[in-house]
Amino acid sequence: MKPLSLLLLTLTTSISALPNPLPQDQPSPAPAPAALSPPILPLFSFSRWILDSSSPPKRIKLRCLNWAGHLETNIPEGLHRQSLEYITTWIAKQNFNCVRLTFSSDLTFSGPTTPVHTSFTVTSQQQSKPALINEIYPSIISKNPWITPNTTTLDVFAAVVDSLSEKGIMTILDNHVSKASWCCNLTDGNGWWDTASGYNPFNSRFFNTDNWLKSLEFMASWAKAHKGVVGMGLRNELRAFLLQDLNGRRDWYTNIKKAGDLVHATHPDLLILVGGAQSSTDLVHLKTKMLDTSGWQGKNVWEMHAYSFTVTFPDPFKNCDLVQAGYGFWSGFVLEQGKAYTGPLIMSEFGVGMQGSDVNGEFGGLDEKDHRYLDCLVGYLKGNDADWAVWAIQGSYYIREGTVDYDETWGLMDHEWKEWRNEKFRAKIGGLYEVTQGP
Ligand SMILES: *[C@@H]1O[C@H](CO)[C@@H](O)[C@H](O)[C@H]1NC(C)=O
Ligand SMILES: *[C@@H]1O[C@H](CO)[C@@H](O)[C@H](O)[C@H]1NC(C)=O
Repeated sequence: MKPLSLLLLTLTTSISALPNPLPQDQPSPAPAPAALSPPILPLFSFSRWILDSSSPPKRIKLRCLNWAGHLETNIPEGLHRQSLEYITTWIAKQNFNCVRLTFSSDLTFSGPTTPVHTSFTVTSQQQSKPALINEIYPSIISKNPWITPNTTTLDVFAAVVDSLSEKGIMTILDNHVSKASWCCNLTDGNGWWDTASGYNPFNSRFFNTDNWLKSLEFMASWAKAHKGVVGMGLRNELRAFLLQDLNGRRDWYTNIKKAGDLVHATHPDLLILVGGAQSSTDLVHLKTKMLDTSGWQGKNVWEMHAYSFTVTFPDPFKNCDLVQAGYGFWSGFVLEQGKAYTGPLIMSEFGVGMQGSDVNGEFGGLDEKDHRYLDCLVGYLKGNDADWAVWAIQGSYYIREGTVDYDETWGLMDHEWKEWRNEKFRAKIGGLYEVTQGP
């Protein structure tokens, strides 16, 4: 979340045409809640589509929300506010069919056998005001009595994935950070592989390449027992800093290939989600050199992120046509059919502050800038019928950046995880639910 690409290593003056450009649409009415009919697994990628295993194969459009599980406590957020059952029922009711569930590499080291209460104790010891977070754990137990003193952090991931799966909701696991913490800036130590050229500690001190691979292997193997997991995001928002990534993306090609091969060998059913450089905004290098995805043929899915503040794209305040052309140039081009790089594209993070300065209601309760950004982005995704994952469900965190019970103003849900923080937001993304194209 929150790309901060201070370094633009690739400058461009020409902007290529969009695949399938369409005029911007008005927001459609919010989708009616519908019973989810789970796809026949496993899923595949074919040309620019994700297909299921029915005969003939049916297109599956991923309509996801992000759910954070990568922060210090190493369990998915929100269980101090509502029961797991309440949250997963809410997700299903809103007609999402998938969750992008984030985890840290730490989860698999510190790790899977750590009881939840120990994880909270350790987290509290790392804080300046330990007493506060000590109040969170009892709330978790009271809302979710199935969590016992023996329940481990990975047990909680299992419960979340399985509860989603019971409701027909798929999970994509996303390796979000190495060190469990809020992501992503250029000094948090989680941005780029430590073995890559141009090492600097600011951006890479926690990103141990071997541990990252082991973590992916561990989670892929774990996922075999949890049918709801349909895909693995290899790494969130890769970002180089200072003298990194000056070698034609060589480290990206090498490490992504290693990880993709490993995850596929471990759990061949999973889709493999691959984001570009510059915080998952930049796949431009594929135009001249395709990534070797032969090790996970029929499983590759590209990822893209776009926020209103993403510096890779033109200023959304200016001109939507230009912004959309930017989306197409940097990442959206992968949807063009018949190319070496053709593949499905999931906009796996986009979002806005839910309570803006809009008093007259004309901008859906958002800031005008966010409203313009969102309509432009939704127009782009709708025109291309792309897959997506909105950032993010969490109305609050156990702890984020040292603040206990941190209020997430970008959360789809309110602080209590009870209902929409801004009900009008549903209508603003309503146009994204429909499937308008297919193979
Ligand atoms: C937790 O584990 C201990 C040791 O294995 C066991 O004695 C105890 O009964 C377990 N408690 C619960 C609530 O499962
Ligand atoms: C970057 O992120 C880390 C980890 O969340 C945080 O400790 C640090 O203060 C952040 N730096 C800036 C400049 O925001």
